[in-house]
Amino acid sequence: MDTIDNSIIIVTGAAQGLGKAIAKRLVEDGCNVSITDQNPKVKETAELIGADAFIGNVGDPNHVKSVVDSVISTHGKIDILVNNAGEVFPTGPTDDWEKTIEMFDRIFTSNTKGAYLFGRAVATSMILNNSGHIINVSTDHVKPSPNSARHHGHGNMDLYNASKWALNGLTFDWAKSLAKYNIRVNNLCVGATDTEMLRKWSGQNADPEWVKSWMRPEDVAGVLLEIIKEGPTGRTGDNVGLYAGFDCVLPPAET
Ligand SMILES: NC(=O)c1ccc[n+]([C@@H]2O[C@H](COP(=O)([O-])OP(=O)(O)OC[C@H]3O[C@@H](n4cnc5c(N)ncnc54)[C@H](O)[C@@H]3O)[C@@H](O)[C@H]2O)c1
Repeated sequence: MDTIDNSIIIVTGAAQGLGKAIAKRLVEDGCNVSITDQNPKVKETAELIGADAFIGNVGDPNHVKSVVDSVISTHGKIDILVNNAGEVFPTGPTDDWEKTIEMFDRIFTSNTKGAYLFGRAVATSMILNNSGHIINVSTDHVKPSPNSARHHGHGNMDLYNASKWALNGLTFDWAKSLAKYNIRVNNLCVGATDTEMLRKWSGQNADPEWVKSWMRPEDVAGVLLEIIKEGPTGRTGDNVGLYAGFDCVLPPAET
């Protein structure tokens, strides 16, 4: 599959950061891209990169249905979904009980329920079309880098990590269930990437050597494009790992 010209694509959480870089790259490659975000800045981003914009929470079923219905009524189908929206907060097993309840709902809504609802909502159109691709943006805490095989994050991120591990359940099941309709489903397990999320998380005093190793969102977007361009016979049910301090290139499929 050399070209993805005119593909109809939804990218969630694309007001800024990785989602914005992915959407921009897909527009530059000739795709018809719709972006969603709960941050109203998504409108400005869409104007800047030449995409269509929707404002809403990916965990809200009404928002999800209205985005998917609107894209289908305008373009007739959806070829690719990139479930990129996500949030991180420090959480752990000794947190205050009230915080625990609030954080569980918030993190799982943004990171897991949003991917589930969007995936469910686009599946019908993809099945009718007998083709499609869903890519869920996960983390290297799920698939650690080759030189830290047993390292699944640094602690204080239990809910974030659990919400991203849950994406494995969706990806592996959907890859099997939807294969007969030529629909691929993959996770992109990204390591430290220079975005607003990581800068906020790391604070002012982050180790400059570590900061220097961060991946560029544009490079991660380039790898996502390569996964798409593998075409209908490409990988499915794969966790694709990209790591800070390593070359940002597409690894061979594991499946
Ligand atoms: N930056 C990294 O180092 C890194 C590492 C591993 C995984 N990731 C993942 O990459 C994805 C993109 O992260 P980023 O670094 O660009 O972060 P970011 O905070 O810069 O961008 C995330 C975007 O998602 C949106 N969003 C969050 N929750 C939402 C919701 N419920 N509904 C609608 N929009 C929502 C935010 O408003 C924001 O615009 C996330 O899933 C994140 O977990 C990032």
